[in-house]
This record gives sequence, C-alpha cells and structure tokens, in this order.
Amino acid sequence: MMPEIPAAEDSLRHWLLWLTDQLAQQGDAPAQEARWILEDVLESSMELWRSPQAPLGEARRARLLSLLARRLDGEPLPYCLGHWSFMELDLRVDPRVLIPRPDTETLVRWALAHLPVEGAVLDLGTGSGAIILALAQARPDLDYWAVDCSNAALALAHKNGAALGQNIHWCAGDWCTALPAGQRFSLIVSNPPYLAANDPHLMELAAEPIAALVAGETGLEAYQAILAGLAPHLEPGARIGFEHGHEQAQAVRGLLQRHAWQEVDTLTDLAGRKRVSTAVWSKDCA
Ligand SMILES: C[S@@+](CC[C@H](N)C(=O)[O-])C[C@H]1O[C@@H](n2cnc3c(N)ncnc32)[C@H](O)[C@@H]1O
Repeated sequence: MMPEIPAAEDSLRHWLLWLTDQLAQQGDAPAQEARWILEDVLESSMELWRSPQAPLGEARRARLLSLLARRLDGEPLPYCLGHWSFMELDLRVDPRVLIPRPDTETLVRWALAHLPVEGAVLDLGTGSGAIILALAQARPDLDYWAVDCSNAALALAHKNGAALGQNIHWCAGDWCTALPAGQRFSLIVSNPPYLAANDPHLMELAAEPIAALVAGETGLEAYQAILAGLAPHLEPGARIGFEHGHEQAQAVRGLLQRHAWQEVDTLTDLAGRKRVSTAVWSKDCA
C-alpha cells in the first residue's frame, strides 16, 4: 500500500510526526517504529535530535517511503530494515530467519553466567546466529558450534558471524546428527521451534519461516528429538538451557528428567513468565 505523500514541509521533525501518524494503523508502537525508520534512513541516531529542522531531502525521502510502504503492507519492521538489534549486536535479518526476540535474552544471560572455563559451546537451531554470536562476543576464547537444518538460515548466520569477526563452526542438518562423532560440549543452548501445528499465534507470525516456529503436533517434538540425540556429545557436568513457551515449563522439565538430566530448574523472564529451563548432565561423572 503506497502512503499518501505529505505536504511541502521537509523537516525531519515533520517527517517523524507524519510517519508516526501513518504507522498508527500498523503495530502498537507507532512512535517507536517511526523513530527507528527515520534513524535508519538517516543512518544516524543523532541527526534527528541534533537538527530536527534539517531537510530530509529527496533521496532519503524515497527510501523512507519505500520502507513505510512495506511496513504498511504488513512486513515485520526488522525485515523491512534488514537488520535488528539483539543483546547490543546489530544482526542482519531477513525472511530466511526468525527475528531475534528480547525474550531470548533470558536464555543468553543464563548462558553467559555458565560459560565454561574452557571447552565447546553448542547452539541448536541457531537461525540468525543471535544466541551463539552474543556468547562468542562476550567470551571469544571458547570453541563455538551452531546447528540449523536450514541452509538459507545458516548462510545468513555465517554473514553475521563474519561481520563480527567470529569464527563459529556452522553445521547444517537435523539437530545432533549434524555434529561430528566424538565432538563433546560443556554448554548447550537452544531456542528450538516450540509451537504446535494448530497454535492460533501462527496467524500473526506468517512472515517468519514456519520451520523456525512449528515443532509438530504437540510443540514438544524438537525438545524430544534434541534430548534423544545429545548424550554422546556431552562432557561430564555439561549444562543445557532451553527456551520454551511460558506454558511448557513443566513438560520440558519432565523431558529433561526422563533423559537423566539433573538439577532441573526453570527461570522466569522480566515479566515473570517461565521461559527457560536448565539442567546439568552428571551421568558420566560417577
Ligand atoms: C525458534 S528459531 C530460533 C532462532 C534463533 N536461535 C533465535 O533464538 O532467534 C528455531 C531454529 O531452529 C531451526 N530448526 C528447526 N528444526 C530443526 C532441526 N530439525 N534441526 C536443526 N535446526 C532446526 C530453524 O530453522 C530455526 O532457525
């Protein structure tokens, strides 16, 4: 849908107000989205504040209108912009990958607090590479591995890693079958698909890859498949952290216990919802 172009005034401040007004019909944070679009077009977060009366100019106006048209057509803002912020990283995103969510920062914060002194760290279902890259940026000395079944997602994750100068082992394939035999890990993190095939939320998520969202009939299939294949890849004392839906904590904890994981625990996010379950592998310690 092409927005109606505003009257003659060309100041940045005017465009910000006009954009906010246009976006009121799309999404629930029009002022925030308007600022993000304008800052993206200006390639600066300062210009708007320093010189609100400065003109936007023709070239930047064309880009702004094209971004707005895509947003008004229902495309998620991160895909329109082509990049998105996660844990202070600026990551490329496009419809090949799930848009990294602030919810996932709970899992990353837990993992940052449990990074091993040495050894290998694994991210299962890496998508844009958001989780593994946030960890690698914090502790570049460890050995980082990431798996995804989508070659398209891995191509983008690879670009994100290269832009940050991070050397990750990117592995294509189905969960643990993508890993080399004998490779063991001290920390495993995963935000796998966890929606059931009939989940009503899927309607709002239609722009994102279905393989990143839907696990199967129950929503628990990815956790089951991961836990079934992980044992040969675990160091004694390894830790695992799973992100899950806020109503799945009990089921995911039950799966961890059934696969002989110990010290099973659940963490809440900033809104108090049970979104991450963790455990320790002590089977090979005895
Ligand atoms: C919920 S997304 C998470 C993306 C990213 N880790 C994040 O938190 O933003 C799940 C990812 O798991 C991948 N995936 C789904 N099924 C898989 C499988 N059988 N083996 C490996 N990866 C899989 C999807 O392609 C997707 O990138």
